[in-house]
Amino acid sequence: MSASLHPTLLSPLRFDKGLCELLLIDQLALPGEEIWRRYSDYQAVADAIRNMVVRGAPAIGIAAAFGVVLGVKAGEPLEQVIATLRSTRPTAVNLFWALDRMQRRAAELSMLSHHKQVEGLCTEAQAIWDEDVAMCLRMAEHGAKLLPPGNVLTHCNAGGLATGGYGTAVGVIRSAFALGHIAGVFADETRPFLQGARLTAYEFQKAGVPVTVICDNMAGHLMARGEIQSVIVGADRIAKNGDVANKIGTYSLAVLAKAHGIPFFVAAPRSTLDPKTASGRDIPIEERSTEEVVKIGPVRLAPVGVLARHPAFDVTPAHLVTAIITDAGIARAPYDTSLSALLLAT
Ligand code: MRU
Repeated sequence: MSASLHPTLLSPLRFDKGLCELLLIDQLALPGEEIWRRYSDYQAVADAIRNMVVRGAPAIGIAAAFGVVLGVKAGEPLEQVIATLRSTRPTAVNLFWALDRMQRRAAELSMLSHHKQVEGLCTEAQAIWDEDVAMCLRMAEHGAKLLPPGNVLTHCNAGGLATGGYGTAVGVIRSAFALGHIAGVFADETRPFLQGARLTAYEFQKAGVPVTVICDNMAGHLMARGEIQSVIVGADRIAKNGDVANKIGTYSLAVLAKAHGIPFFVAAPRSTLDPKTASGRDIPIEERSTEEVVKIGPVRLAPVGVLARHPAFDVTPAHLVTAIITDAGIARAPYDTSLSALLLAT
């Protein structure tokens, strides 16, 4: 089934084939307003990725794939289009995975007419989207039975909005809840962008899953009191050895989970696996503007001129990860062998 037609999906993008325009739901405006923005220019798509109108590892890969379609349709040089889209965000490997795939397809189509090239690239971008949804649904199947009874905690937004439509960690939680395996979910607010409070809470509310938002510094307290039985997060890049880059704050949760004997799961499609990166030390970590830290939205919190830092991701070492749920099955330590085997699986 095409990604745009699946009944249970909350997808952050649409593609208008007639007009050859990409539509993105503005994730900066959610949950207050559901605004769909139209893009016919690849540079505007690159800005939307950089500014986080669209965000989440698989979603930015899919948006970038359609960005390539727009650039080629407009007659822009392919290398320039790909280079611009690659320069938007450094951590999520899905972006590079999708762009490499579009580049390979463009090479295969290069002898055809311009019209046929655009058509072929559009089909490839749609395939990347559809395959992502299929991978999320498979992850949900594999992962739902892993979550122990009780409450699960998640961080950031690894939901439909971050993917082609069903979500990675959020998809697993949705399926576990539907099967009656878990009671409810805690969503970390996820400073500074508040993906948890704004987007994950919005998605679970829409899906009818009981969700409770907490500040990022409350998780340890709730774990100590026995109110959290597992943690599950998505990933932006998983190194060959199983180290996981994900939204800043994930590492602290993994340490807390270990200290409390709580399983810590990661859900990610195989497009997030990066066998070329040996360990987490080699994963580029995006540093974003410190304005996003000293302010919440337009409201300044910290004094003007104060120093701040904004690493947008952190690395959770593999030894803190109980299991990695992929579309091809579940990987456990030692991850270099289990992940390599899953990459080879059909
Ligand atoms: O900065 P963001 O919002 O793009 O970061 C998103 C995350 O860290 C998600 O957890 C990750 O991309 C997994 S999404 C399925």
